Amino acid sequence: MNAKPVDPTGTAAWGRLAQYADGFAPDLRGWFAADPGRAERLTYDAADLHTDLSKGLVTPEILDALIELAREVGLEERREAMFRGERINVTENRAVLHTALRLPEDATLMVDGVNVVTEVHEALRHMFAFAERVRSGAWTGVTGRRIKTVVNIGIGGSDLGPVMAYEALAAYRTPEIECRFISNIDPTDAARKLADLDPTTTLFIVSSKTFSTLETLTNARLCRSWLLDNLRAQRVFDGKDEEAVAKHFVAVSTALDKVAAFGIDPANAFGFWDWVGGRYSVDSTIGTSLAIAIGPERFTEFLGGMHAMDEHFRNTELTHNVPALMGLLNIWYGNFLDAGTHAVLPYSQLLHRFPAYLQQLTMESNGKSVRWDGSPVTTHTGEVFWGEPGTNGQHAFYQLIHQGTHLVPADFIAFANPAYPLKDTTDDGRSVDVHELFLSNFFAQTRALAFGKTADEVRAEGGSNAAREDIVAARVFPGNRPTTSIMAPDLTPAVLGQLIALYEHITFTQGVVWGIDSFDQWGVELGKQLALQISPAVSGDEQAAAAQDPSTRALIDYYRSNRK
Ligand code: F6P
Repeated sequence: MNAKPVDPTGTAAWGRLAQYADGFAPDLRGWFAADPGRAERLTYDAADLHTDLSKGLVTPEILDALIELAREVGLEERREAMFRGERINVTENRAVLHTALRLPEDATLMVDGVNVVTEVHEALRHMFAFAERVRSGAWTGVTGRRIKTVVNIGIGGSDLGPVMAYEALAAYRTPEIECRFISNIDPTDAARKLADLDPTTTLFIVSSKTFSTLETLTNARLCRSWLLDNLRAQRVFDGKDEEAVAKHFVAVSTALDKVAAFGIDPANAFGFWDWVGGRYSVDSTIGTSLAIAIGPERFTEFLGGMHAMDEHFRNTELTHNVPALMGLLNIWYGNFLDAGTHAVLPYSQLLHRFPAYLQQLTMESNGKSVRWDGSPVTTHTGEVFWGEPGTNGQHAFYQLIHQGTHLVPADFIAFANPAYPLKDTTDDGRSVDVHELFLSNFFAQTRALAFGKTADEVRAEGGSNAAREDIVAARVFPGNRPTTSIMAPDLTPAVLGQLIALYEHITFTQGVVWGIDSFDQWGVELGKQLALQISPAVSGDEQAAAAQDPSTRALIDYYRSNRK
């Protein structure tokens, strides 16, 4: 399965796409006018997600060529290899099985002679039992008080997924317990998140796949000292350190030996497997904080949503396969229309960390310059993902998307029902459903981006600027700015799971086209190594400072002479 990747640029489909791209003049107004069935034809339902691709810059011929491209590079075969548990993470020689984390209990998936589904559900039961004990108050701190705050200590995939989902599912959380998330090694993060906490009611979850990440282990030690110092300062505990740590620290990791070495009782450690990538791990025991917040039943629904999207991706013809089509469209925009970035714009404040979550998922997966056989890539890979919730983004950066010179494909995400319905009473006494006002913006923006406003339309508007022919050009909207609209009835745990799995499979699709290993992350290593080498220089070791390049040395000197 890991034979030489197919060079996408050598395929017949790539040649066809290059021809379409040559002199491409998108015309969404014309395309919609000529084809009344366009919206219906290009709208697809996958689980609960209703996805409209019709405001994308595609024609039937382009879509056809993109699907042909997917077939020529072997997307379907590699998809099967992933689901079957083959070792498609070549550089780390690992299977890629985040999809196994959400298989139902009665499924079977044998990997190296072991049914991984049995192991997954054992780990889930362990996590759920613990979550229930914390939620019910059966698990207490060392002084017997129930837990009121759970602090997840982790970074990257051991932080972004849990915090994003915790925020997204605010409406489903127990009010009894607050979760906080410490990730950054900037001491500000731990200092501020701990400042008002009571150690007797605080539980720490140290989340680290490798249990060797500098940031997480440093923060875990800081939190352990904070716990012990404050318990003693309050004179509420005079037992052994281990007793307090056992009641206030648990861990999630694949390296259970390192958890024990840190001083956390292995009975309070939740395991997972090396075939789960960090950025694909929110549905493993890395989601323990989330399971405590929303409870096992909701967490199970979350997994069910992911599984539903997995089934769609695995079993649906490419012509109607939403993750595959969205991934292929991204190839069209990035490789043929020179779009270097991709915006994700949730019209849901609850999804405010979703773009940050997707940045790790997509950019750590697909920001690669070599293919899975070590040969150089043959075209641009991994676009920059970014975004903010609407409507905030509208008042910040949408200007560039509407009228700038860069093409920025954008995914708009919205829900029919608000988690927190509110009505506004206007000055003239009308009652306005604020969610309707909010969604009007969603619909308006995608329409404006697609169809724009011509110079004649500007002139016909009249108003105070009617006589200003000199500013007509500045008021024109060119349109033909591609968007995908994704809607669902509500932002439930299941729908959040579907959204996450949707983007996982979009990322996978693009990685297969480019022939890259989307599951390793060697690009994060050099900086980590150098930080350890530079650290003595920062602390004043002159020999270590002398070994640095002149720029780095001068910056360290600046730091040392200004540090109070
Ligand atoms: O440095 C990148 C990375 O390895 C991510 O891939 C990962 O999600 C993060 O660090 C945290 O790693 P760990 O869970 O092992 O602490």
